[in-house]
Formats: sequence, structure tokens, C-alpha cells
Amino acid sequence: MQYGFFDDARREYVITTPRTPLPWINYLGSESFFALCSNTAGGYAFYRDARLRRLTRYRYNNAPLDQEGFHLYIRDGGCVWNPGWQPVQTELDAYSCRHGLGYTVIRGEKNGLAVTQELFVPQGDDCLLMRVSLRNDSGAVKTTDLFPYLEFCLWDAMDDGSNFQRNYSIGEVEIDGAAIYHKTEYRERRDHYAVFWSNRKPLAFDTAREAFLGLYGSPARPEAVFGAGCTGSVAHGWQPIAAQQHRLTLAPGAEERLIFGLGYLENAREEKWEAPGVINKQKARAMLARYADNAAFDAALAALGQHWETLLGVYRLRSGEEKLDRMVNIWNQYQCMVTFNMSRSASYFESGMGRGMGFRDSCQDLLGFVHMIPERARERILDIAATQFPDGSAYHQYQPLTKKGNLAVGSGFNDDPLWLIAGTDAYLRETGDWSILDEIVDFDNDPTLAQPLLEHLRRSFGFTRTHLGPHGLPLIGRADWNDCLNLNCFSEHPGESFQITGPSEGPVAESVFIAGMFVKYGRAWADICRHLGLADEAAEAERAVAAMEKAVLTSGWDGAWFRRAYDAFGRVVGGRECEEGQIFIEPQGMCVMAGIGKESGEAALALQSVEDRLETKYGIVLLQPAYTRYRLELGEISSYPPGYKENAGIFCHNNPWIVCAETELGHGERAFALYRRTAPAYLEDISEIHRTEPYVYSQMIAGKDAPSFGEAKNSWLTGTAAWTFLSISQAILGIKPTLDGLQVDPCVPSFLRRFTVTRRYRGAEYEITVENPDGAEHGVSEIRLDGRALSGNILPVLEKGARAQVQVRMG
Ligand code: BGC
Repeated sequence: MQYGFFDDARREYVITTPRTPLPWINYLGSESFFALCSNTAGGYAFYRDARLRRLTRYRYNNAPLDQEGFHLYIRDGGCVWNPGWQPVQTELDAYSCRHGLGYTVIRGEKNGLAVTQELFVPQGDDCLLMRVSLRNDSGAVKTTDLFPYLEFCLWDAMDDGSNFQRNYSIGEVEIDGAAIYHKTEYRERRDHYAVFWSNRKPLAFDTAREAFLGLYGSPARPEAVFGAGCTGSVAHGWQPIAAQQHRLTLAPGAEERLIFGLGYLENAREEKWEAPGVINKQKARAMLARYADNAAFDAALAALGQHWETLLGVYRLRSGEEKLDRMVNIWNQYQCMVTFNMSRSASYFESGMGRGMGFRDSCQDLLGFVHMIPERARERILDIAATQFPDGSAYHQYQPLTKKGNLAVGSGFNDDPLWLIAGTDAYLRETGDWSILDEIVDFDNDPTLAQPLLEHLRRSFGFTRTHLGPHGLPLIGRADWNDCLNLNCFSEHPGESFQITGPSEGPVAESVFIAGMFVKYGRAWADICRHLGLADEAAEAERAVAAMEKAVLTSGWDGAWFRRAYDAFGRVVGGRECEEGQIFIEPQGMCVMAGIGKESGEAALALQSVEDRLETKYGIVLLQPAYTRYRLELGEISSYPPGYKENAGIFCHNNPWIVCAETELGHGERAFALYRRTAPAYLEDISEIHRTEPYVYSQMIAGKDAPSFGEAKNSWLTGTAAWTFLSISQAILGIKPTLDGLQVDPCVPSFLRRFTVTRRYRGAEYEITVENPDGAEHGVSEIRLDGRALSGNILPVLEKGARAQVQVRMG
């Protein structure tokens, strides 16, 4: 069942009922000011850091769901309604929500009044704009009241939700004409404030929640809206809000537009005040002036459109397969940009308070956005590398505002270091910018320990090489990619962290997955060394990689698939002898992607085992059989009920590893079959089962052991976005950046007889048309660049601004 449809020409998903199976959200903002906005105008805004600079409140896990946000109340005659249906939930005569690239347009109609709410964050500015258009389609004059409403957060979302004995006394606002300023803590430690404004003077306002909603009122029934209107309240403590009341009289057929904004501004300490106790509002006034009229609003919206046009212009596919084109050209890349901005911090499943930026997460996200924003990827790599420790290990997370490693979680996740090589390697392949390796980067955020980035990569590689267990496989530490496989932690009591209880490392527990990574990214490291003329170091790295490959095939091979790990007692995890958890997806994907057992046959066997044992109609589950009881020696993974999350859920992130692995063996048919199984656009018509947004990937779909098999959770912020984009754009369609140029190596299903990819790469544009007349799965017989036959399948790097036509024939 569908709850909307794709409008590809406008790059929008159009939701046609507010009663979606879950709130379906969008992200507004792509630089420093961000907002989450659901299809009913729920959500919240923040500046840079969803925990430390939260601008508006949102109550997770609330009932009713999703009632805080950017709501508008319409009072028209005796009827109160919202164009997005929530929170009053008055039935609408018509409703739609268009989620587009960085903007959302919600439209509701009731009793002949059509109200449209357009929201976006303009490029280069720290504010959310909201234009409200009201059109009187009835035959009579209408006098209508319009109330925008939002609730301020007292900046630190964690504190805001817990430290009430303080918070109830500190809230402060200022009112200045059509603007409401939020300035809690501005007097003392903060040099920033927020402002909510409209471009028209309101009839009345409220800034105290109790006055607007009523103490026992609610967003679903604000007293001001249902009663006598806004009261002019000035918040002192309690809950500061911004609400306004605008009265409009509309002749039949008339339309009125108002522009609202929520801005964030900083003042230098010496410029904080314009009079004692009065905020210096110079910057805010300039911001208001920038968006004073519709022309300015339209221009800012057009600039946003241009921004996305440029980003999505880097990789464009024409395949004739509608759903595929839509995923590749629009939504998958859009989601990659969102994961770049958010990492795993703020979604409708991530509170914005828990995790900042993950070391491994952000490195993997790079794989999906580096082609669109290489300069920002560069900056990101350097930020991440600065949270690495001198021994090559790394903080597992860092806060985006401070860019400092998160001490509470610390280090000890032994896959982290190698992801830095993965991310940097992707950057080098994309840009050819070798100067990044000379950048001097802190270790442990300490400038006295700074070294060139190259040295960071060297230590990443060195860390794994020097932390091996009894089988010559890498020690796992607290956990590897699978945060929930905690072989050294032994979390026994309620409230103890699964990940950081107990020693960060034992001398025994080993990971076959990290071994696969070491082979894959160790080779990348060797290539980088060779490219830099470090031939001895490259050869030495290759020797270490070869030894690891051997260790995997000796101690990591179970007969028909790769084992997962050895636990702290030296027992196999992910092998036939195990009672449960006999086979895991991760090592099959990573080891085959690394080419382990490709020649000798283990790789093919491993993928066959995935098909036989892990595949379901909704995707590949993480392991089988699911754990049915908690196992102290395995940790969090066995704490989940069977079929959920890492305990045999369909963890979407590693499905594309299998897709890539299949292409490694030339299996185009199978790779695509797996690709489409989890691709959201292909799941649109089972939205009632899938439940999350049909335009983005979710972290997890409940596996076959779960009662809700097929139900997705944790949409948006997942490494799935980057990896699936990699799997389709590079592994299947075969357009692969390498250190030396753009390789063309498609591995496709037989129905794809012809497709064109237009790819901007290192300043030139290649229009690559692949013809596959005989339906081959893999192999290129001829490549012509502007008519000239090429030897090999790597397109040379062209001059900046050059355009080339590339004809490729498979078979
Ligand atoms: C984390 C990843 C991790 C994955 C699997 C995600 O929630 O962000 O870092 O690799 O779970 O455990």
C-alpha cells in the first residue's frame, strides 16, 4: 500500500495522507543550521549540534506522537485546524506534503481555505524560513486567524530534558515588534540567541507556554487558539515559546502570504548589548531584512535548488528503469548528504543527545558523498583524524560542535582505525588531491602531537598489524563494525554499558571481519604508498596483507563460509559448531570484497551460503540462527529479541557488502536482485509493512525471526546510504574512481542492455554509454573515448572543463 508517490521531475516525494505509518520526515539545512520536519510539520531545529545547540523542543517517544514542531493553527469561523493535520487533527478536505531536496511544502484545505506552508533553510544563513500562503477559495469573504507556534529549547537538549530545578527559573525572552527573541543564559555564559519573526506585525503574541496552551492544555488544544487569542505573555522561567496571532481578511479568490523565520545568531562578547540587559539585535535585524518579501524568499529557494542541481549533477544515470534512476539520481545521494551532515546524531530514532559523530560511521559516510562535496570531505577527514590516538586507535565518537573525542565512550573499537584508510582512499581516488596527506593533523586533539595525515594512515594500518590474537587475526577490542558483538565486555548488570563494561581488549578475542578489512584496506594503503614512491613500505604492507589472507583461510574459514570471530575463550563465533549464530553476514561481505578466496573458491562458497542461509524476501539477515538467550560472552547482540537489530535483523548496512561481493565474482544478475530487495523505491507499495519513508534507507528491517518481519526502523541515519550508493554506482553500474582515473567495469543484470552515466570527475565530464547487446553480466570488450579505442578500462584524467563521450561495449 502506498501513502503517496514519487514526483521525479520535481525530485519530490508527495505524501497524500497525514496518517502515514510513522511520521515521514525530511531534513532542512546543509551547512550549520538544521531542522527535521515531518509530513505534519513536527520536528525541531538546531545549530550545528543537536545536543549542545538545540533551538526548539521535541519530545521523543511521546504520546500523541510528533506534536512539537513548526505548527500553524488556523482559526476560520468556528473551526480550528492545521494545514499538516497535527496537532489538532481536524479532518482536512485536502492534504499533501511534498518533501523535496532541503525543503518541505505542506498544504491543507478546509472549508474553502487553502493554506500552504513552505519550509527550508537558505544557503549560507543560519535560519529556517517558513512562508505561509492562504487562499480563499470559498465564495465569501473570510476573516481568519493564523497562529504559528514553537517551543524553545534551553540550548543543551540533555540538560533541557532533565535539569528542571534550574530550567524552570532561567527562561528569558525579549519582544521587539514582530520578533520574539530567546535569550536564556545570554546574560552570563552564552553569546548567542535565537529569534522567531514574521514579516508582518502580529495582532498579538505569546512567549509563555502556559499562557498559550494553558497549564492543562496541549498542542492539540491551545487555549489561546480555542479561546480569546494570544495574551501578550512574557516568559520568565518556565517554558519560553514563540507564538503569534495574525488576523487576515481575504476576499473571495484572494491570496495572502506571510514569511516567518527562526534564526540563530552569535554576538562577540564586547558587542552583546544594545542597552543594559537588551540584546544587540543588529545581526538579527539584518537577517530579517534579508527575507522581508516574497522575491527574497523565492530567490533563496531558487539558490537552494541550484545547490542541489550542482550536487546531483556529479553522477547522473539514465537506465530506463524508473525506480533505479530515482534512487541513484535523487534519493540515495540525498540521503548520503544527510548522513554527511548528521552522522548518527539527530533523526526520529536518534535523539540528537546520544551519539555525536561516529569515527567509523563518518569515515564510511564519506564513501557516499565524497564525489559531491570533496572539499567538505577533506575537512571531515582531517577532523576525524584529529580524534585518533598516537598508537593508531581512535575515539569512537566526537561532538560536532567541539570536534573533540568523546571521553565517555573512549576508544577500543578495533575496526575504527582502518576506516580512516577507507575514507581517505576514497577521497584520493575521487580528487587526486595528494596534498591532503601532507596536512598536519593532531593526534588526540592535541596540537603538540600533530603529524601529517599520511602518518595517521600509517598508524591505522600499524595498529591492526600489531594487535593480533592467537590465530594471527586482529584483536577485536570492545567491538568491530558490529557494535553489539562485545566479546571482551561481559555486561552483567542492568544499566551497565554493553560496550564499555570490562576490559577494552583481551589477548584472545579476534575478528575475522577486521581481518577482511585489513586485507581490503591494507591493499589500498599499499597502493597509496606505492603511488608516493614508498616501494619498500608498500611491499611490506603487502606481505602483512598476504599473511592475513592466509590466516583468514586457515582459521577464519569454516568449510562453507567465513567465521565471524573467536571469543575471549578462544571459541569460534559464527561456525557450524555454534548452537546459534552459526553464520554471520559481515565476514562474507568484507572478505569477498577483499578478494579473499576468490581464486581458490571459498568466496563463491561463502556467497552461496549467504543465499542459502541468510537471504529472505526483504533482504539478508545479519546472522542465523538468531540468539534466543542472552550470552554474556557475546554481549549486546544476544540481548535483542530474535529478528531485531544485530540479532538476525536485516541490517541494511551490510546488504550492499554482499552486492559488492557478488560483483567481485562477476554476478551481475544476483547483485542487482539483492540491490533491489532493500532499495526503498522498490518497497513503496509495501509501505504498510515497511512503515518508514519509502524514499530513504532504514538501518534495520525486522528479520524473519521477528513477529514484525519486514518492518523497518531507524530511517535516514545509516551507513546503508553510502554503501548502497557505492554498490550501485560503482560495483553494479561500474563507474569506479581509482587513483589513476575513472574505471569502467559494469557488472549488471541482463535486462540492463543500455545505460548512460554522466559523471563529473576531477573537473571534467564524461558521458559514458554502456551497451550490452547480449546481456552479459560482466566484462567490457571495447571502450572508446571520443571515438578513439582505449586499451584497458580506465578513462584518463582529462583537463578541467573537458567533456568526453565514452562508448562502452560489454561482452
Ligand atoms: C552504528 C554503527 C555500527 C552498526 C552496527 C550502528 O548503529 O552507528 O557504527 O557499525 O550500528 O552495530
